Amino acid sequence: MCGIIGYVGKNKALPIVLNGLKFLEYRGYDSAGIAYVNDKNIKIVKEVGRISSLESIVDKNEDTNVCIGHTRWATHGIPSTINSHPHKVGKFTVVHNGIIENYLSLKEKLKKENIKFKSETDTEVIPALLDYYYKQEKDILKAIKIVKEKLEGSYALGIICEDDLEHIYAIRCGSPLIIAKSKDGNFIASDVPAILEYTNKYLLLEEGQIAVLSKNNVIIYDNNLQETKLKELTFKGNKDSAMLNGYKHYMLKEIHEEDQVFLDTYNYYVKNNKFLNTMPDFKKYQNIHIVACGSAYYVGLIGKYLIEEYADIPVKVELASEYRYAKDFADKNTLVIFISQSGETADTLAALKKVNSEGIDTLAIVNVYGSSIAREAKYNLYVKAGVEIAVATTKAFLAQTTLIALLAIKLGNKIELLKEFNNLDKYIKELLNKDYKKYAKKLFHHNEAFFIGRQVDYALCLEGSLKLKETSYINSVAFAAGELKHGSISLINNGTPVIGIATKEEIINKTISNIKETKARNAYVLYITSRDIKDNFYDDKIVLPKVHDIVMPILTVIPLQIIAYEVANLRKCDIDKPRNLAKSVTVE
Ligand code: G6P
Repeated sequence: MCGIIGYVGKNKALPIVLNGLKFLEYRGYDSAGIAYVNDKNIKIVKEVGRISSLESIVDKNEDTNVCIGHTRWATHGIPSTINSHPHKVGKFTVVHNGIIENYLSLKEKLKKENIKFKSETDTEVIPALLDYYYKQEKDILKAIKIVKEKLEGSYALGIICEDDLEHIYAIRCGSPLIIAKSKDGNFIASDVPAILEYTNKYLLLEEGQIAVLSKNNVIIYDNNLQETKLKELTFKGNKDSAMLNGYKHYMLKEIHEEDQVFLDTYNYYVKNNKFLNTMPDFKKYQNIHIVACGSAYYVGLIGKYLIEEYADIPVKVELASEYRYAKDFADKNTLVIFISQSGETADTLAALKKVNSEGIDTLAIVNVYGSSIAREAKYNLYVKAGVEIAVATTKAFLAQTTLIALLAIKLGNKIELLKEFNNLDKYIKELLNKDYKKYAKKLFHHNEAFFIGRQVDYALCLEGSLKLKETSYINSVAFAAGELKHGSISLINNGTPVIGIATKEEIINKTISNIKETKARNAYVLYITSRDIKDNFYDDKIVLPKVHDIVMPILTVIPLQIIAYEVANLRKCDIDKPRNLAKSVTVE
């Protein structure tokens, strides 16, 4: 979703902000813009498309030490220069991440005050309100405080005011924003990668606080406009984690980090086949709900199969966008687990807040440290995937799958299963180094694909299918293998690609029967299995290492991710930034 970066300091601000915007590209965007102070004026430059287009119309050497920049992922109004941020009304210029839900009523009121709007965005009401209340209060902080109270929805804002050209003001509510200090200047940013080149120290702005940044200083005010302090945090990963390091795409780079990500996550919770006390005991719960969006939801489905099998606890998995409006059956015996890579997904966060308000125990499985979901939940289990840049999640999925398998063991008290994780990093490496291009070559010219599997393999089919769809734009669907013949098999035709996944020994034959039904209709079958069978029901096969079912999903997902990558590469897609998608979906 939208990304924000702002800099005020001793150095020229434009190269810093434009460079920072590039590190926010992964969030997904369709236009970009900057506002900077030059010759006692605020200049605004905006452009539809990539940051490189914006860069081409900006003179980076312009003399400015104060700049705010923005990548916009269109929600209200098409991607256009007018709708791009920053938005300026009167003396105030603003960049915004999030959605103002009551913008229409605010706009109506402001129109009655003769305020004119140029764009179709929800954002434009913010500078308009700031300007309106500033005229009354003659005090920027007071105006910001009043406007905060008027806004409903989610927002992170970077603000500059014509009457105070040496400061950047920032607030947040529901959308992420960090503040970073360096010896040459200070920053606001949506995420750490944008500032890593200058510092790895940052502050997490709390909801309701106002940050005021100058060249040499950062002051944080609380809700009552009293100065307050925030604990400085250190980003543990290195700068390289946000760089391509020779890889053609972040997606490929991140897939190739999976053996290490597995080890980092596993070693954080387990040592010498014993759980460390980093994982609380959740034994008392009689049922579990898992709530998430996108790929994290599919990790939840894997979790359901593993927890039900190894811990004997019933698990309900639901999409956060549905769960937040569904009738609530959770009670004091329920643990509600929220899975999220970013920790900022709006629907997941809203569902979490709802459950929290009912006094039911919540657990967040999150990758990004200090993110909203991590802060909101009662318990936290971090996965150790590091910074993930590609929109299509890969290494975070593998880390979350590792963690959910560990959680199943913990819940079921099946400590003896921990040994099944030994050597898994070697198997992961082995799978990473195989050649998947030959399968991609058979798939890439098709416009449809089917994934079929049963039980935990069905969850992996859903993820494999999503990966293929989002990176290569092939219309791909996943089916529980037994369900295909209830209608959708009518779509199988000469050469239709079917990826059949069968890893669970007791039901491999059942899945094979379903695969055969597609082969009988002339499908091209790629069979992914842990049992090597010589037969003619497949055209190609990928044989996975034979490991215990509890860790199998950690391996099964790897070929699916790489095949999706290779297909997208052959189709010359924008792999790291697929069209219309955003990495962190901070709107409902
Ligand atoms: C977006 C991303 C997906 C991700 C989903 C949930 O749609 O493109 O890759 O799975 O959001 O995100 P989260 O950060 O909550 O895991």
